[in-house]
Order: sequence, then C-alpha cells, then structure tokens
Amino acid sequence: MPAPNLTTEIYTLLAGFHEMASIAPSLEALEKSIVEAIAAWLPHYNWTGFYWLDPGDAETLVLGAFVGEPTPHVRIPVSQGICGAAAALGETVVVDDVHADPRYLSCSIKTKSEIVVPIRAHGKVVGEIDIDSHAPAAFTEIDRQFLEETARIVGSFIERHCGESN
Ligand code: SME
Repeated sequence: MPAPNLTTEIYTLLAGFHEMASIAPSLEALEKSIVEAIAAWLPHYNWTGFYWLDPGDAETLVLGAFVGEPTPHVRIPVSQGICGAAAALGETVVVDDVHADPRYLSCSIKTKSEIVVPIRAHGKVVGEIDIDSHAPAAFTEIDRQFLEETARIVGSFIERHCGESN
C-alpha cells in the first residue's frame, strides 16, 4: 500500500495505474498509458520515460515509452549516467542539481533535477522509470513514494505477463 501522505493527484494516478495494469494487453501499452497520464497530471515532470535492460545485453538500458523532448540516449550502458547508476545500485537515485553530478548524461539543456526508480521483477532489476524536471530539486519524498509504488505495479505486471528474460 502507498504511504498515507501522498497528494490527491498521486492517489488518483496510482488507482489508475492499478486499473491499467489489470486490463493492459501488453507491457508496451501499460508503459505508454503511464507516461501519458503522468505528463497530463504532474506539470513538474517535464520528461517521463521507461528504460529496460536489454534482454540480450544485461549491461545496457534501452529506451521504452516516453513523453518529452526526444533524447539522444536511446541506449545507456549500466556503467554510465544517472540511469545506469540506479540500475547498477538497484536503488532510487534523486539528483537535485544534475549539473553538479558528474554522472549526468544531458537530455535537455532545460533539465535541472532528475529521479530514477528501478523496476524489479522475478527478484531482479529489469528496468526503471526516469523523470526529469526543469525545476531544481523538484523531487520530494512524495515523488519517490509515488514512483516506487508505480515501479511495483509495473514489476508485478511483468511477473504476471512476461517471461523471466524481460
Ligand atoms: N539523464 C539521464 C539520461 C537519460 S535522459 O535524461 C532522458 C542520465 O544521466 O542517465
């Protein structure tokens, strides 16, 4: 269950994600629905996307569904970027000032802060949710709880619908 101090918008989104996960015909459909809902409801989330570990190369993240400016980072080695760090650590990474973090791979000149939340299925990291904001230090404990619950919903969907290579 999500923690009790989430905002109304986030509770509404999480209820929608549970509903989407119960009816989505595919992982691709679920991730698209989630990024579109987040972009519509949370204005400080200026780029929202999924990255997945390549089933044929567990050392590389591959861009999935996203809403925001096109990014040059379609494939990211796990050894690089804030995205790579979150996958390698298996932990949420919050960066209040991306320009002060030497790991940061630039996607947009406007980005000031970023949060990356790993998605686990079948006991291992399979991907992550990556959010950029144009505001510095945009992501609070509420955002972390919201995105970690979203990652659990997606991970549970993968366990129910996808093989262990996903
Ligand atoms: N900033 C990320 C790269 C992905 S873009 O933000 C979409 C990173 O440092 O890994």
